[in-house]
Amino acid sequence: MATTPDPRRIDAFSEITRDLGICFGGDYNPEQWPREIWQEDAELMVRAGVNLVTVGVFSWARLEPSPGEYDFAWLDEVLDLLHAHGIAVDLATPTASPPPWLGILHPETLPVNPDGVRLAAGSRNQFTPASRVYRDHALAIATALAERYATHPAVRMWHVGNEFGQIDFGDEAAREFRLWLRERYGSIDALNEAWGTLVWAQGYRDFDEILPPRRMPYLVNPAQSLDFRRYTSWALQRVFTEQRDAIRDAGATQPITTNFMGFEPLTDLWEWAGEVDVVADDQYPDHATTTSSSDIALVQDLMRSLGEGRPWVLMEQAVSATSWRPHNLPKSRDRARLDSLQAVARGADAICFFQWRQARTGAERFHSAMLPHAGADTEVFETTCALGADLRRLRPIVGGRVEASVALLFDWPSRWAADEPGRPTQRLDTLEQVQRWHRALWRRGIAVDLVRPGADLSAYATVLVPHTYIVETDAATALRAAVERGASLVVGPFSGVADGNAGILTGRSPVLLRDLLGVSGEEWVGLPDAPTPVVVEQTWATAPAEVEASVLGERLRAEGAEVLARFGAGHLSGAPAITRHRARDGAAWYLGAIVSDDALAAVLDDALDAAGVTGVLPDRVLPDGVEAVQRGEALFLLNHGDQDRRVTLPGLRRDLLSDADVEGQLTLASGAAMVLIERHAE
Ligand code: GLA
Repeated sequence: MATTPDPRRIDAFSEITRDLGICFGGDYNPEQWPREIWQEDAELMVRAGVNLVTVGVFSWARLEPSPGEYDFAWLDEVLDLLHAHGIAVDLATPTASPPPWLGILHPETLPVNPDGVRLAAGSRNQFTPASRVYRDHALAIATALAERYATHPAVRMWHVGNEFGQIDFGDEAAREFRLWLRERYGSIDALNEAWGTLVWAQGYRDFDEILPPRRMPYLVNPAQSLDFRRYTSWALQRVFTEQRDAIRDAGATQPITTNFMGFEPLTDLWEWAGEVDVVADDQYPDHATTTSSSDIALVQDLMRSLGEGRPWVLMEQAVSATSWRPHNLPKSRDRARLDSLQAVARGADAICFFQWRQARTGAERFHSAMLPHAGADTEVFETTCALGADLRRLRPIVGGRVEASVALLFDWPSRWAADEPGRPTQRLDTLEQVQRWHRALWRRGIAVDLVRPGADLSAYATVLVPHTYIVETDAATALRAAVERGASLVVGPFSGVADGNAGILTGRSPVLLRDLLGVSGEEWVGLPDAPTPVVVEQTWATAPAEVEASVLGERLRAEGAEVLARFGAGHLSGAPAITRHRARDGAAWYLGAIVSDDALAAVLDDALDAAGVTGVLPDRVLPDGVEAVQRGEALFLLNHGDQDRRVTLPGLRRDLLSDADVEGQLTLASGAAMVLIERHAE
C-alpha cells in the first residue's frame, strides 16, 4: 500500500494561494500549437489575470516520441516563458493517454471491456491500471519529468494523470483482482462465505478460478460486483500513488494532486482523499436541468469535506459549452461567473478551466475555452478577463472555511451495493436521494458536510442518512453517540440493510439502528406508479397539507417511536410511514418510504429546529434560485434563477465584488452575485 502524504505538504497549497491569491487559469496544451502562438498565449494570460496553468496532461507522445527517447526542449521553453510572465505551473504527468507505441509493443497494457473487446489507441485513456508494463512506463516518464523540473521556479504543483476512471475486465485485471482478493480474504473458503457462493453454485476451489464480472448469462453476484468495484478504485489509486511517490522521490516538494470527478462511480474518494495533498475536482454542471445549481453545490460540499474543510481546487470546468453532451448549451456570462463564485463560496481557492485555448483539431474542437477559436476580440474572452478581475477582488477570503453543523452520510461501497440490480425497485437511486435531501438544505442556506459512515460526528447538531445501504457497527455506534448527546438524526428508507459484503442483515431492519430509531421493518416493497397517500397523525403538528409516498416503502412497526404518519392505502395501508423517537438528549426520525418533497422538507425542518440549526439568512427558505453561503468572514449571495429576488440581510455589509455598501432588504438581480463582508457603521 502507498504511504500517506507528508503532513507538512497538506498545507502546501495554502502557500501558493498566499502568494497568488485565488488561483485562476486552466489546462494549457501548448504542444498542440505552433511555437509562434506561445508568446501570444502568455501575453493574453497576463491580460486575463491567469496565474496558474496545468501543463502537459496529454503530452506523452510529444515528450517520449519513441520508448525511452525523451524530448523536453519544448517544455523547457514553455515553462521558462510562463515563468517570465509570472504564471505558475501545475505540471502534469502525461499518463492518462499513452502513446500508440505502448499498446502496439505491449497489447496487454490496453483495457478490455466486459465483452472481451480490447480497446484501441486513437482516443485517450487506453490503459489498464492493472498492467505492470503500463505502470512502469508511466513511472519512468513521471520520474524523468520530476527529475528535470522539481526545482523549476514555475512549477508550484504536480498533477498526476487525469480523471482516474478506467475500468478493465481483461486478464491483467483478473490477475490483480485475485491478488487483491487473497489479501482481503486470506482463504478461498472465507471468500466463498463472504460472497455467498452457495447460491447458483458459484463455489470456487481456488482464487485462480475467479474472474472480473465479465459478460455473464444473467445477474452477477452482488458481492463479486462490489469487490470488483473496490478493487478497481484501489488499482486506480495505486497508479496515482506510485507516480506521486516517484515525483517525491525525485525531490519535488510541491503539493501533488489529481483531478477528481465528483461522484463519479469508479473511485471511492474517501479512500483517495488522504492521498492527495490538495483535493481537486472537475465540474460540468448540466444547466439544461432545473437542479444543476444545487446538484453541483453538493459536489462542492463533497470536495470540501474530502479535504476536511481545507480549500480545494476547481481544476476544470467550461467557460461556456461542453462538446461531449448530445446537445450542448452555452453558458451566459452571468452563468460562467456564478459557477465559479459558487465554487469559491463552497471552499475552492482555485478556479480553473478546460482549457486555455480552444482546440482546433481533435475530438474536443467544439468544447469552449477561455480563449476561443475567434480569438481575444470575443465575448467569451471578455468573460474570462472579467472573471479574473472578480477573483482578484476576492483575495481577502482566501483560506476561509465553511462551518457546517449538518452532516450527510455518503459512501461509495454503499452506493455500489445499493444500486445493483435485483432489488425491490430499480427506481431508487442513491445519488438522487442524496441530492434531494441536500437540496432541501441548500434552499435553506444551511451548510452541509458530507461524512463517511463510521466517522466521528461530534461536530454536528444534525445528521442525515438519506440512503446508506451498508451500515456496519462503527457507523451505527457513531449515529447512536450523536443522538445521545443531543443531535437530530434523520434516516431514509432502505438504509442499514446490508453488511460490508452486500449480504442482507437478518432480523427486523434496520438491524443495527432498530433501538435507536424505535421502529423496525420486515418487508421492502416497490410502490405503485400512482403516488400512495400518506395520512398524517395529530402528533405531527408541522406536517404539510399533503403527503405522498412513491418508489419504495417498508412495512414498519413502531417500537417506542411516535408515529407521525401512516400509509393511507395499498399493500402497506395502516402501517407507519414516518416516525420520531426521542433517545436520551436527541431524537431520531425514520422515513419508511420515499416521501414527497414537502414532507421530506417538513421532517428535515423539525429535525433542524430540534437541534437549533438555522440558515445564514433570516428567511427559513430562500427565494427560488437564491443560494447563500457563509465562508469565513464572507457571506456569498448568488441568484441562479431567472427572476430578481428580494433578500433580507443581517446588518451592514460591503460587497467585495462591487465595493458597494448594502443593508437591510436588497434586490439580487437574476444572475447576480455578491460577496458581503461585515462593515460597522462609521
Ligand atoms: C475533462 C477532461 C478534459 C476534457 C474535459 C472536457 O475535464 O479532464 O481533458 O476532456 O473534460 O469537458
